[in-house]
Amino acid sequence: MKFESINVCPISLGDLPRVFEISLSVLDFKGWSLKALEEEFLSQRGVILGAWKEGSGERAGSFVGFLHYRTEEWGAYVVNLGVEKESQGQGFGKALMQWLFQALEEEGNSSREKKRVFLEVAERNLQAQSFYQSLGFLEVCKRRGFYSNGESAFSYERTL
Ligand SMILES: CC(C)(COP(=O)(O)OP(=O)(O)OC[C@H]1O[C@@H](n2cnc3c(N)ncnc32)[C@H](O)[C@@H]1OP(=O)(O)O)[C@@H](O)C(=O)NCCC(=O)NCCS
Repeated sequence: MKFESINVCPISLGDLPRVFEISLSVLDFKGWSLKALEEEFLSQRGVILGAWKEGSGERAGSFVGFLHYRTEEWGAYVVNLGVEKESQGQGFGKALMQWLFQALEEEGNSSREKKRVFLEVAERNLQAQSFYQSLGFLEVCKRRGFYSNGESAFSYERTL
């Protein structure tokens, strides 16, 4: 089932515990601690978007997913992305990524440069690989032993 109204926007400080909770429940590698997320948020080093369902207006409804990224001169690096298990396959991940694409496209139009989105995905995370491929990402290289548990990752990139 796809939701008619999916709300995506940058989170507020009070949403961080929920971001942490979702990352603990869906990421199969050690994600960021709540403290590290708070530091990231307060320093504005990174941006964390949230996705809400069944609400009217920004940050209303139930918080179901997040996208954490850092902007760079060339575009954006996706740090983490997660949608709670019960809400996966309903368009929330795609809506979060599309919000980022649009923001970068708007920046690119003003600077006349094509922006890029770059990320790593675990070799055995086939679900996420299909997801990124469906959004036009291409595999650019394999990074052996990228994760602390020794697992390899693929680097994916999409030019906007
Ligand atoms: C990967 C993830 C973020 C995708 O979010 P999502 O909300 O479930 O994905 P969407 O419903 O927006 O799917 C968008 C497209 O991705 C593809 N896709 C999503 N899940 C898929 C799956 N299980 N198998 C194959 N393709 C899939 C489909 O093409 C889908 O398009 P469609 O609905 O038109 O068929 C989510 O499943 C998740 O949180 N997974 C666990 C955490 C994780 O792996 N994060 C990524 C770390 S790099």
